Amino acid sequence: MPRYLTLDDLNVSERTVLVRSDLNVPLEDGEVADDFRIRMALPTIQRLREAGAKVVVCSHLGRPKGADPAFSMAPVAARMSELAGFEVRALGAVVGDEVQQAVSDAGPGDVLVLENTRFEPGETKNDPDLADRLASLADVFVQDAFGSVHRAHASTVGVAERIRSAAGPLLVAELESLGRFLGAPERPYVVVLGGAKVSDKLGVIENLLPKVDTMLVGGGMCFTLLAARGYEVGSSLVEEDQVDSVRSLLDGPHGDRIRLPSDVVVADAFAEDAAPRIVAADEIPADMMGLDIGPETAESFSEVIRGAQSVFWNGPMGVFEWENFRAGTEAVAKAMAECGGFTAVGGGDSAAALRMLGMEDRVSHLSTGGGAGLELLEGKELPGVAVLERWAS
Ligand code: 3PG
Repeated sequence: MPRYLTLDDLNVSERTVLVRSDLNVPLEDGEVADDFRIRMALPTIQRLREAGAKVVVCSHLGRPKGADPAFSMAPVAARMSELAGFEVRALGAVVGDEVQQAVSDAGPGDVLVLENTRFEPGETKNDPDLADRLASLADVFVQDAFGSVHRAHASTVGVAERIRSAAGPLLVAELESLGRFLGAPERPYVVVLGGAKVSDKLGVIENLLPKVDTMLVGGGMCFTLLAARGYEVGSSLVEEDQVDSVRSLLDGPHGDRIRLPSDVVVADAFAEDAAPRIVAADEIPADMMGLDIGPETAESFSEVIRGAQSVFWNGPMGVFEWENFRAGTEAVAKAMAECGGFTAVGGGDSAAALRMLGMEDRVSHLSTGGGAGLELLEGKELPGVAVLERWAS
């Protein structure tokens, strides 16, 4: 585990602190649709404010191609203000004269939110000029965006190379909790993967397989694996270009650790009111698509989860937003709640599913990270954490 400074090591009174939070939240009709990440980011901001800091918060939001009002941080700042009960001022830019002026006009206890860091083309390239300009806004930097530390961007790495930087309390809590899966996790160690795309998680499957006892795979991605096994999967989501790589994984040295659905819930259309039907995983009719794992699979996955000592879950088992295709995700959530071992959930969709089912307090750790959590479990170095080490010596 890398060493880093924490808030206890910083004197922030009357100083300007740039905080990198992960405020990458879903927006709907210009409003925040899920404020989990904002709620989780707030205690750090509040603590700095109470310690007399001038707090400048920055984050990315979505994947805009340049400045795009649809990805503005303004609704996020508004929601933050509502939740916090104090004024949070959204600035109209990431860097520049307007921002410099607003920061110098602010006083201790004020909270400003910069515009979406990805409005600056240099952000994702970790451009030195952007990093200089961000760093020039503050005396110290607090990295609290666990969900973003797997990205080597200007606001995650560049700025931390330039000014004294510490890990924020949320980042520390995430690293400590998810760190339990590294080294020698208590066994059986089970990873549950779902979500739509196998291409996003192929590397994760490959890197995690040697470490886990069992990997349960559901969600849209399981159909590419079922296709690689040679099953007919009807009109289910299949990434044809991934089938060969997936087949090598399944036939590889740890392929037998992967458990795929034995039955699935299918429908003739991707629609909320489509009639659900349960079929064996190797008997999906040609005109049907799989939208959830079936009840037999839900039961066998649940049994594996309940019997585990360490479980990490990322990605829903089906289209949980629709009642007809929610049962698989619900069963996995219940099994996580019933498991007596250490349970953690990461990824926006699975976390949202847990909250929708009212089970967010029933797991040991609900992570704010998606890809970052998976990369941590894979044993990869997280650049936004590694860069903090230089300030700890
Ligand atoms: C996430 O939602 O996982 C993080 O905010 C990172 O977002 P990104 O994948 O667009 O970098």
